[in-house]
Amino acid sequence: MRFSTRYLIGGTLTVYVITTAIMLVSFFKKHSCDNIYPYDALSVDRLDYSLFEFVSISQVLRSQIEETLKSELPPAVDDTLVILDDLKALNNVMHQMERHVDERAARLVLSQPVINYHNFSYIHNPTYYCTESQINVILIIPSATTNFEKRMAARRGNKRDYVLNVENRAKLLFFLGSPSRGGNIHTVQKNIDQEMKEFGDIVQEDFEDSYKNNRLKSVSMLRWVSTYCSTAKFVLRTDDDIEVNVSALISVLHRTSHSLNNFIIGMKRTKDPPRRDNSKYYISEQEYPYPVFPPYLLGGLLGYPVSTARLLYEAAMRTQPIWLEDVYITGICAYKLHIPILEDPEFVFKHE
Ligand SMILES: *[C@@H]1O[C@H](CO)[C@@H](O)[C@H](O)[C@H]1NC(C)=O
Ligand SMILES: *[C@@H]1O[C@H](CO)[C@@H](O)[C@H](O)[C@H]1NC(C)=O
Repeated sequence: MRFSTRYLIGGTLTVYVITTAIMLVSFFKKHSCDNIYPYDALSVDRLDYSLFEFVSISQVLRSQIEETLKSELPPAVDDTLVILDDLKALNNVMHQMERHVDERAARLVLSQPVINYHNFSYIHNPTYYCTESQINVILIIPSATTNFEKRMAARRGNKRDYVLNVENRAKLLFFLGSPSRGGNIHTVQKNIDQEMKEFGDIVQEDFEDSYKNNRLKSVSMLRWVSTYCSTAKFVLRTDDDIEVNVSALISVLHRTSHSLNNFIIGMKRTKDPPRRDNSKYYISEQEYPYPVFPPYLLGGLLGYPVSTARLLYEAAMRTQPIWLEDVYITGICAYKLHIPILEDPEFVFKHE
């Protein structure tokens, strides 16, 4: 009995380790070869699929081993303990492998040359914002230059309640570009200067604040957070016109961070085709030649660790851009970095 159990578990372990090794090797072979656009509609599916396979095979094998332990083992305590130790060791190896995959993907991205410097100057930059007191959570809101009323609403709403509770160690910060050429640039800028004087919660870079530049806005947020707020733990990004239950969202981030170092949570879209019609979201075939977007998260509400913001910023400087910022950051850059994009039933918003 003892011998057969050992034999069975030994066999299962061998299959497990060999399968894992094969999957990792084939994953990296695929991942490191392409250097133009490391994705297309097909390869994203395939990649997702092989990752799923990888994880689910591990899980199945792990549970098989546990089943074996339960059903086959006679009450031979010594033996059980030895095998349980083996199992624990195996789990540790699995976690290490998963971390290796993450680090390897990040290194691959960082080894690529920078093709998009994001070196716009700051018009307003409260560099001390995250360091003058200890911050756990930075709530960031991309906002159009003339959206003064919406910013005021955000300053009064339940985001403020969350920020006002000192135990939460949270702060709220708006991100603007420079007034667009259509309007009265001087007046708009003067209003922003006044608003900044009064509330001190604005970062403003000197790229033109227009809808088509929303990718620059996104990158400016990643840049600022990873440069000036690296001591915070989580980033919560919302549009300036949505209401959320901040406590609930932060709980989801905490819960997720127990099992993952880097991740993005939001509301996921899969298999969206690019719009080639008169849509607000029009994108040319030249800019995005593929028939389907990779899975991505809607930009209206996103949560991620600060470490993830840094990786995304680095990836964005090394990745051929498309103007649709949510597809670009959470679909393309996150994919290159191998950062999982997740959904959670409690991580949702409603438009006001
Ligand atoms: C941005 O900065 C990099 C290095 O810091 C420099 O090489 C590059 O020319 C700059 N680009 C612009 C547009 O200023
Ligand atoms: C927000 O979520 C928390 C749970 O995290 C819950 O206790 C609270 O009642 C919610 N608040 C509102 C206004 O829904």
